[in-house]
Amino acid sequence: KIYPVILSGGAGTRLWPLSRAVLPKQLLPLVADKTMLQETAQRVAGWPGVMAPLVVCGNDHRFMVAEQLREVGITPLGILLEPVGRNTAPAVAAAANYLKAIDPEALMLVLPADHVIDNGAAFRDAVERAVTLVGQGKLATFGIVPTSPETGYGYIRRGEAVANCGDCYAVARFVEKPDAATAQSFLDEGGYYWNSGMFMFGAERFLAELKEHAPQIAAAAEKAVSTGYRDLDFCRLEEQAFTDSPSDSIDYAVMEKTVDAAVVPADIGWNDVGSWSALWEVQPKDANGNAQRGDVYLDKVKNSLVRAESRIVAVVGVEDIVVVETQDAVLVTHKDQVQRVKQVVDHLKSKA
Ligand code: GDD
Ligand code: MG
Repeated sequence: KIYPVILSGGAGTRLWPLSRAVLPKQLLPLVADKTMLQETAQRVAGWPGVMAPLVVCGNDHRFMVAEQLREVGITPLGILLEPVGRNTAPAVAAAANYLKAIDPEALMLVLPADHVIDNGAAFRDAVERAVTLVGQGKLATFGIVPTSPETGYGYIRRGEAVANCGDCYAVARFVEKPDAATAQSFLDEGGYYWNSGMFMFGAERFLAELKEHAPQIAAAAEKAVSTGYRDLDFCRLEEQAFTDSPSDSIDYAVMEKTVDAAVVPADIGWNDVGSWSALWEVQPKDANGNAQRGDVYLDKVKNSLVRAESRIVAVVGVEDIVVVETQDAVLVTHKDQVQRVKQVVDHLKSKA
């Protein structure tokens, strides 16, 4: 049986001022009418052999997460609450401990709550191939053909083809977030994929790898689940144990280190909507290439993203820019510079 594990703990800081700590991007209807969390849960609902999802999120978001799932008719298997964010390795480890107690054979399909996947049928096909890999004890990742030397992604060098699996490969190398020159060399060399950040593996299999490569995280997660307590749909991870866990991502803690990783190439219309330019790319645009929302007036504007939440926003005679207006903050930036928005949030935090 496959258990979707939806990670809904990120802050989405590069989408400030729309995405905020209290209402991060996965809980917003950023791209579609439904929120990204709702889209993620619905994407895999009803697939044969796929159980109800387990959501892992911060304690502060518990009611919003529960309500958003209810709104789309999804009853989660559970909602695991983190007292503090410790990045994805402890979150996935907690989910693995929770699931193996329910089903020792549980297969986990780890899904970030904030990705766009346009081609659901191709995604389903990729998951089916991953099931074959996981059956052979592999830790499967889904690989995206890279189109630019992005430094915010993991890179996967594909190795030997895996037998009887259609189009699947052993992972020869996994490099999380290389610098720009290294990323460019991977593109030049060829044979690399971006790590999509979605994974599939047996719960027990993952925990065995974690114990080997990040024993402190493994121990903390095990304790946080076994001494946590249930309260309705929620399972509260025990605060002290979880807080004591080192903070690390699954990519650095496990995927870079394991020798049993395998990659399923997945041409699925994937976008992680990690920045305003990525959002511009996935949104519908007018004849001038502008993506607009709200009360917006545009004159001689091209290839821009303009969003008005609470006031009239007029933009005249510019190209390739991003303007995002909200009640208490306004962002204006060039589409080339959107990665720097993260620093705005760092600055505001340091002032607070
Ligand atoms: N529950 C929970 N708790 N979820 C978390 C936490 C946490 O502490 N931290 C992050 N998440 C969620 C985020 O909301 C997101 O959906 C997902 O886990 C991945 O976290 P990011 O912080 O967005 O990771 P990243 O973008 O830097 O890198 C990952 O994704 C890339 C693709 O988007 C890596 O897996 C890269 O290798 C990958 O290329
Ligand atoms: Mg991300």
